[in-house]
Amino acid sequence: MFASGIISALFLITSSTTEAQNSQLAAPVKRVKECFDPAWMFHKGDIAIKYTFRAAKYGGLTDINVKVVSDETVIDYTDKNKLSEFKPADWQKVDLPHDWLIEETFVNDDLLGSQPAATGYLPTGIGFYRKEFELPEIDKGKKISIEFDGIFRNSTVWVNGHLIGNYQSGYTPSNYDLTDVLHYGKEGNVILVRVDARTFEGWWYEGCGIYRHTWLIKTDKLHVGRFGTYVTTPVVSDLKADVDIKTTLKNEYKSARNITLVSKITDNKNVVLDTKSTTQSIAPLSQIEIEQKGLIQRPLLWSPETPNLYKLLTEVIENGNVVDTYETTFGVRTIEINRNGFFLNGRLYPVKGTANHQDFAGLGVALPDKINEYKIKLLKDMGSNGYRCAHNPPTPELLDACDRLGMLVLDENRILSSTEDNLKDLATLIYRDRNHPSVFMWCMENEEPIQGTEIGARMMETMVETTHSIDPSRPVTAAMNHGWNSGGYSDVLDVVGYNYGDKRSQYVNDHEKYQQRKMFVTESTSFVSTRGEYEINKEKGYVSNIGPYTPTWGPEPGKDWEQIVLYPYLGGSFVWTGFDYRGEPTPYLWPCVSSHFGIMDICGFPKDGYYAYQAAWTNTPIVHLFPHWNWQGKEGKPIKVYAYTNCEEVELFLNGKSIGKKKSIPFTKLEWELVYKPGKLEALGYNKGRTVAKDIVETTTAPSQIALKSDCNTLKADGCDVAVIRVAIKDSRGRVVPVADNLVKFTIEGPGKIIGTGNGNPTSHEPDKADQRLAFNGYCLVLVQANKETGVIRLKAASDMLKGAEVILNAQ
Ligand code: GAL
Repeated sequence: MFASGIISALFLITSSTTEAQNSQLAAPVKRVKECFDPAWMFHKGDIAIKYTFRAAKYGGLTDINVKVVSDETVIDYTDKNKLSEFKPADWQKVDLPHDWLIEETFVNDDLLGSQPAATGYLPTGIGFYRKEFELPEIDKGKKISIEFDGIFRNSTVWVNGHLIGNYQSGYTPSNYDLTDVLHYGKEGNVILVRVDARTFEGWWYEGCGIYRHTWLIKTDKLHVGRFGTYVTTPVVSDLKADVDIKTTLKNEYKSARNITLVSKITDNKNVVLDTKSTTQSIAPLSQIEIEQKGLIQRPLLWSPETPNLYKLLTEVIENGNVVDTYETTFGVRTIEINRNGFFLNGRLYPVKGTANHQDFAGLGVALPDKINEYKIKLLKDMGSNGYRCAHNPPTPELLDACDRLGMLVLDENRILSSTEDNLKDLATLIYRDRNHPSVFMWCMENEEPIQGTEIGARMMETMVETTHSIDPSRPVTAAMNHGWNSGGYSDVLDVVGYNYGDKRSQYVNDHEKYQQRKMFVTESTSFVSTRGEYEINKEKGYVSNIGPYTPTWGPEPGKDWEQIVLYPYLGGSFVWTGFDYRGEPTPYLWPCVSSHFGIMDICGFPKDGYYAYQAAWTNTPIVHLFPHWNWQGKEGKPIKVYAYTNCEEVELFLNGKSIGKKKSIPFTKLEWELVYKPGKLEALGYNKGRTVAKDIVETTTAPSQIALKSDCNTLKADGCDVAVIRVAIKDSRGRVVPVADNLVKFTIEGPGKIIGTGNGNPTSHEPDKADQRLAFNGYCLVLVQANKETGVIRLKAASDMLKGAEVILNAQ
């Protein structure tokens, strides 16, 4: 572990300049963190790796088509007969993040590894990434490393023919020091990454490839270590926050260095609030940790409602020259979980959470930052304030979005294991994420079979100790579905996590019986529904929004919240799941390729259950009527109508005629039975006799036009930014046709491209990477990404017999 530094008090001189610091700061930039995402080549399938028996080189395809192999290098194939050879034509240009699995064809084949359904019936495999790059001569002498935020999975890296390393985890970042093997100047470099995604880590869609960002990091040999700052605010009051700063500094020179570490605390306008300065000597080839104590007067606290952020700007100065700079975002807030519940900034704060996997429509797991932000915004709109990263470490940009937008995070480790490798992965997660104010608790594992056993408890104890040693400021939990009261397992956790503990009143009984126990509902509900469907269709794999496919382990949407209201000591809960995700189709398998657990579908379109949560989690009066009112052929037959509401009463009208008022029962959907008659069904929500909310479902006429709605009008011309464009099929009067399944074709002009489509149909076998999509129950989605040029992007949508539509985006 890299932060095992010693603080040498002897040489430590600390000075403080708290007063009169309120000047605008222009931070010097010394370290370079270069986005290494563009311009890779990708090859699907295995390739014979050439290698040499001599010395340092181990092949890595760097000899082909480039300039880096010398005459005396002896190169041979490992197994020429078995594997295909390098053919440039087999490689395609890609930019990262990249998930090649999303472009595969669905196939119901048991030979696809041991769990084809889990991966969404897409065949995983092996792929190669290769990139040529030059470094200027002036980089010679710097430390240069590469950081992969996430590769799924088992990645092997070569640079200029040198085997650099192998990393198994598909979710933890990997980092390699490349300094010694690089060429500086015109000669150029080749990096090759082999990704072997044949083995799974979970039971959901995990993707394949370098699916998160990659960075090339250049620093002086005297620098802040990887994830080398740690900021906590142990004492917080209205008047002040004490800021504890720990900085790991590395000296990779062969001589001792005298440095001054300057730490500046700024507010979100870059105004310096406090500066701490420490001078110290660092022995050759060693690292130290320096501790400083700063102060914020009248701190603006972080919470989901007030996501106030501060920054720590770190400067490493030697002989008056700034040799490294480093920026850390942090927030000031207090968290506590005790027998009475979860407290944020001293206030009982039940967490209204959802658990989520990382994929999204059109993209698999390779999400542009904008999409991570978009997902968090949708969840917040629903009234949610908590996000569980199920069941693996998230991408850093997701946490940045949670910090910025205000969303508490349960940050999760992938595997229950205390082996050296797995503890290293766990430690990397904690080091990486421990400055995020959004992260309020660490989760060590999910539903592992050895929960509640003595061996499991020993492993867990080691993991908890590792976590506490790196971050003593947050509690540690595990998402348990059994074994709460055996093997001493729960005793080694700070907080005992309950997945579906409402069954058999597990958590109520345990709360009473175990007087020391602190609890949290780490997972709940698992209600299955297909957006816009109100009947079960086994052939298509659709499940109704009305039920009855609530699995035996969870209640109906919104009902779970009743438990938290009744028993606030449960801290809050994470509903399984905020969004549908690929893989884990339940309850039907093929041809269903996605899950239906989401409160929203995989595109982020709300299902009916969404409104149960909005009703439970917000103060906005809500009434939501369902099903839709397009039931040709069912005229004169009985039909059940439902409403989710948080109003005191709801009155239903069919074609203007009152069907009567119903008093609402908290967290329970209202139900009416009527005779189906086309027209207009209207529900009015009343509080104290006044109309405060309303919803209408109407029988529409045939599809007649397309409507497009983009989440933004302008895009950054940075090659990354994305517009999320919702496509609705409407009738001539502008009403969404809830059963429409028209094929919508997209064309694009200007400096942008279509990067994916989706429609929320869990049985759709259409390609996501395409310029057309069938609507599903009235809607589909198209994602447009900006290029690096500015200009006007026109996205047009057309469909046979329908009036088309256009969205104009300005790329700036
Ligand atoms: C939970 C599990 C989740 C998911 C869910 C489906 O028990 O933690 O990963 O499988 O069940 O209901």
